[in-house]
Amino acid sequence: MAVIAPSLLSADFTRMGEEVREIESAGARVLHIDIMDGHFVPNLTFGYSMVKALRPLTDMIFDVHLMMTDPINYIEDFAKAGSDVITVHTECRSDAGQCIDLIHRCGVKAGLSIKPKTAPDALFPYLGRIEQILVMTVEPGFGGQSMIPECLDKIAVIHSECASRGLTVPVMIDGGVNASNVQTAAKAGADMMVAGNAVFGAKDRAAAFRELCGLSDTGLIH
Ligand code: DX5
Ligand code: ZN
Repeated sequence: MAVIAPSLLSADFTRMGEEVREIESAGARVLHIDIMDGHFVPNLTFGYSMVKALRPLTDMIFDVHLMMTDPINYIEDFAKAGSDVITVHTECRSDAGQCIDLIHRCGVKAGLSIKPKTAPDALFPYLGRIEQILVMTVEPGFGGQSMIPECLDKIAVIHSECASRGLTVPVMIDGGVNASNVQTAAKAGADMMVAGNAVFGAKDRAAAFRELCGLSDTGLIH
């Protein structure tokens, strides 16, 4: 069964605390938190103060996705605020290797992400130094977009490169995951999947979350 990580971006911003508690009660173990700087992507979300404010409310793993041009300048703040995983993009302006080292020095797990037009090879120089891979299945910037299904083909390429090096790195996908494609994504090898609209867009978040978890169960162990 893949890990479904609800994305805070699609939550009701007037009820962040309640949303987080509700989704944790439904069984979510990972909360995906999208940070957008209005430059790397054409949208703004929230800063590390949101991570800090939510941290005392939950034991969920805070999976922080930095869609920022210069994430290196903010890694320490996000780490101190209580992030468990911090992901940066191969396409950012900061040096990805330096970001990974800084994330580790802060005692946090490091993730590396690629946008839909970036080939999986961009991740390969960093394999062995990262704890998670994030494959974008939409152009980053907005929730509620449709998945680009071709992006799923990258997962097998990544898994096979990791296997050839004797590594196991979980691959998460992000963007457009819903009840109609979650099974396909699980079969394609996604170990973890972000779900924004598909969870927080539903009136009954718990039911929507559990449905996605159930549908992602292919019986395969990755
Ligand atoms: C998109 C973000 C996603 C977003 C996914 O730029 O990185 O994490 O929240 O939302 P949905 O699941 O609605 O596509
Ligand atoms: Zn994200």
